Amino acid sequence: MNALIEFKGFNKFFGEQQVLNGIDLQVKTGEVIVILGPSGCGKSTLLRCLIGLEVAHSGSLNFAGRELLDKGTDWREVRQQIGMVFQSYHLFPHMNVLDNLLLGPLKVQKRDRREARDQAEALLARVGLSDKRDAFPRQLSGGQQQRIAIVRSLCMNPQVMLFDEVTAALDPEMVKEVLEVIQGLARDGMTLLIVTHEMAFARAVADRIVFMDGGRILEQNPPEIFFTNPQTARAQQFLEKFSYVAALPQTTQTKELELL
Ligand SMILES: Nc1ncnc2c1ncn2[C@@H]1O[C@H](COP(=O)(O)OP(=O)(O)OP(=O)(O)O)[C@@H](O)[C@H]1O
Ligand SMILES: [Mg+2]
Repeated sequence: MNALIEFKGFNKFFGEQQVLNGIDLQVKTGEVIVILGPSGCGKSTLLRCLIGLEVAHSGSLNFAGRELLDKGTDWREVRQQIGMVFQSYHLFPHMNVLDNLLLGPLKVQKRDRREARDQAEALLARVGLSDKRDAFPRQLSGGQQQRIAIVRSLCMNPQVMLFDEVTAALDPEMVKEVLEVIQGLARDGMTLLIVTHEMAFARAVADRIVFMDGGRILEQNPPEIFFTNPQTARAQQFLEKFSYVAALPQTTQTKELELL
């Protein structure tokens, strides 16, 4: 089967600094990819390039059979197909939860209000937040707001979801509820690209770990190989801080979330 997403010889500079260097990465429909690597290695930039928030320098980036680096790409349209959730949730403070969720489907996608609302309510139920439908963002915890941000993205019916450290700003007790939502999407077969520092989660959820350093991909392996037998000295060094993860029980078969 053809890849849904394919970076080929992909390069990105900020000024003189090359932050992505010859990236070759294929993602198939339904795959769950976790991107790991030290701070500044280019993880966020890679995801941002995929939805046109950063402009590529050269190479190729194919999505669903289309070359996105061609002139004339409609990035607004691409962003309906590829949802992205960040560390901060950016909900509109003056709108309640339901209105936040319906903004994209009604204003951008011009969908039928009842159909969009039914979907939004079903997704709210799925993340356990039906009772927050009429609440305003300030009345919600960080973990609840982040789950709403995920639902807001899902309401656009994307083909792929990108998650960039979505739990990094949350109190520890709220991390699990957000990771469980992502775990559920993975279990349902959604295509996911995830940047996270939650190593146990990465090991449990990923079909493949992509390890980056200095703007390059150094390793791509299934998590059971990456965490127990990393191939490069750089990955070994990176993983030393997380040595407990290799000792965790094998969870990738069941894809059950084994948090710390
Ligand atoms: N808008 C920008 N202008 C200039 N340089 C940038 C910009 N955004 C990122 N960089 C640089 O590009 C490199 C890659 O940054 P990026 O944010 O992609 O790293 P990261 O792997 O996501 O790091 P972290 O784990 O800290 O989030 C870094 O050296 C960073 O300083
Ligand atoms: Mg980042």
